Amino acid sequence: MQIPYGRQWIDEEDIKAVEEVLRSDYLTTGPKVSEFEKDVCGYVGAKYGVAFSSGTAALHAACRAANVGEDEDDEVITSPLTFAASANCAFYAGGKPVFADIDPRTWNIDPVDVERKVTRNSRALVLVDFAGQPCDMERYWVVAKKHKLALIEDAAHALGAEYRGKKTGSYSDMTIFSFHPVKHITTGEGGMVVTNNEAYYEKLLRFRNHGITRDERWMTQREGGWYYEQLELGYNYRLTDIQCALGISQLKKLPMFLERRREIADRYSRAFRRVKGVTVPYEIPMVNSAWHLYVILVPAEIRRQAYDRLHEAGVLVNVHYLPVYMHPYYREHGYAKVCCPKAEAYYERALSLPIYPAMTEEEIEYVIETTSRIVEELQP
Ligand SMILES: Cc1ncc(COP(=O)(O)O)c(C=O)c1O
Repeated sequence: MQIPYGRQWIDEEDIKAVEEVLRSDYLTTGPKVSEFEKDVCGYVGAKYGVAFSSGTAALHAACRAANVGEDEDDEVITSPLTFAASANCAFYAGGKPVFADIDPRTWNIDPVDVERKVTRNSRALVLVDFAGQPCDMERYWVVAKKHKLALIEDAAHALGAEYRGKKTGSYSDMTIFSFHPVKHITTGEGGMVVTNNEAYYEKLLRFRNHGITRDERWMTQREGGWYYEQLELGYNYRLTDIQCALGISQLKKLPMFLERRREIADRYSRAFRRVKGVTVPYEIPMVNSAWHLYVILVPAEIRRQAYDRLHEAGVLVNVHYLPVYMHPYYREHGYAKVCCPKAEAYYERALSLPIYPAMTEEEIEYVIETTSRIVEELQP
């Protein structure tokens, strides 16, 4: 048995939806893009959505829409416990990431440390809903408003999560999602920014398409039907109709996907709470996690061996994440002295167990039985 830590669910409906687009007039920049954007907005409760070619492109766009890079010294505060893209986006936009440590209980960024890291150069706060558990938004809102920071939520892990009964996507200035195959729904590669702010929306639309507009409100002159203008430097970050058709079809299954992820997480928590030396994820009372990842902490001395033995047994656990500033690129670019002790302590103990809707009962049982046995045998 080989059980990956995550994988997609593709069925005949999805294949049919993609096939229809392949037989239609538009492979890209056609009707499926706005349909997908509308569906995601309707689902999360946001006004505007702009689909991007990846979650990373969406983060880049959100940073630029928030004017990161306008001044040379602009800083973006983010979590070290994330995929590198949450921090790289600050560099892409012409700013610099600054890391605040995590809360060792929730594994999300610590609002108290965020406030400590604010300087007069801080321009945005990129929150990461780690593993699918939304940040306690009200605490960051206070900090963001006080210091006039744009609040960007990296919800690549959290499509369908809820905070105080509302879906992730309706709280922050801009929220980004990723549709990579290990995420909740997939378009192969893909991402989206959702926002309730029209000005951000307009900027995001242009940024996705070379900075080009055909909107007469923004153009310096009118020439004729063919005419468009490039107003700023943008990119080709478009998502195709082929991918959006897949996204539309996948989104219909999201409630079922989430239910299954929550069921698996619940089974794991009940089982692993009883295993000596294992810490299961803490669940913040007013949130409902989307469970992109299910992480357990084991004693640091046994993590490496537990990882290797689980792989030998076909349970393909993973480790999320090496704190971003510890990557060689960061060390070589001024971050060698950065230290977030809580993120580092977490990193030494973490193991992400397989969790995805297509897991069979037999696979879930196998993960529980194998992990419990190996961790117990390795106890120091
Ligand atoms: C927290 C986080 N942010 C951003 C991204 C980037 O998304 P994408 O792979 O769609 O570019 C990922 C992807 O793994 C992620 O986990």
